[in-house]
Amino acid sequence: MIFYFSATGNSKYVATKLEEKFNDKSIKIDDALRHEEFEYEAAKGERIFLVCPTYYFNLPNLVSDFLEKITFKGEPADFVCVATCGSSIGGLDRIIKNKLKGKNLNFKAVYPVRMIDNYVVFFKMPLPEEETMKQRRAEEELDNVIDNILFNYRVPYTSNIWQGILSGFGGLIYRKLNKTKAFKVDEKKCIKCGLCQFHCPARAITMKGHPVWIKDHCTHCMACIQRCPAHCIDYGEKTKDRGRYVHPILK
Ligand SMILES: Cc1cc2nc3c(=O)[nH]c(=O)nc-3n(C[C@H](O)[C@H](O)[C@H](O)COP(=O)(O)O)c2cc1C
Ligand code: SF4
Ligand code: SF4
Repeated sequence: MIFYFSATGNSKYVATKLEEKFNDKSIKIDDALRHEEFEYEAAKGERIFLVCPTYYFNLPNLVSDFLEKITFKGEPADFVCVATCGSSIGGLDRIIKNKLKGKNLNFKAVYPVRMIDNYVVFFKMPLPEEETMKQRRAEEELDNVIDNILFNYRVPYTSNIWQGILSGFGGLIYRKLNKTKAFKVDEKKCIKCGLCQFHCPARAITMKGHPVWIKDHCTHCMACIQRCPAHCIDYGEKTKDRGRYVHPILK
């Protein structure tokens, strides 16, 4: 069973690759939350995968909520997480291990895979050459992770105390910066297609002609900005000239 969450396709790509390699099936976490599907039973010898992006060296809020609610019946299954990121997952391994306490799962490993950083609030999105180079590197890292999983969870990622502290601060900043006030739509460019609402995993957008954001729901995933076909959503002034990114799997 592969549980995944993905806003711009990086983690979806990883989940798809794991499906192929392990002949497994994927469950989209936002769908499971929407349908309140929290009870699962692993077959004998089955692995449980979690694939998701790293936000401020932490889990996305939505994934964290899901892990709190999920339960597993039957024999305890092995659990492994593949966390996609732009550069580092900090102390995410410790956070996940803690979250899984009492969940009837055998925590085995967390593996980072560096992909394109989709955080357009902080970074410029890559030009085509850089994108190709980083996709290639991600491909190599993912192949390596798959080998490690097959070799009985060889060389798992282990954070040090400083990375744990980094995640602690990261979590505070994530909570502080996760605001929707900064979302702006250029109403002249908006074609009122509703795709931002459709792609929002947290149901944080309602359509009143053009999109309007609901603060409490937003998980700060950037799907609305990145996937708007008219490129008419911005986050303050910062995202105006930074380009947009989605993984080829979503194109
Ligand atoms: C709010 C936010 C915070 C992020 N924080 C981190 C981070 O702490 N470390 C990192 O390496 N990448 C960070 N990233 C980049 C994403 O983890 C990375 O691009 C991920 O692969 C996106 O996955 P997706 O395409 O499946 O949504 C962040 C992205 C967002 C939107
Ligand atoms: S995705 Fe973009 S163009 Fe479509 S409704 Fe939302 S803001 Fe408007
Ligand atoms: S409003 Fe935008 S950033 Fe917030 S959860 Fe929805 S798609 Fe993600």
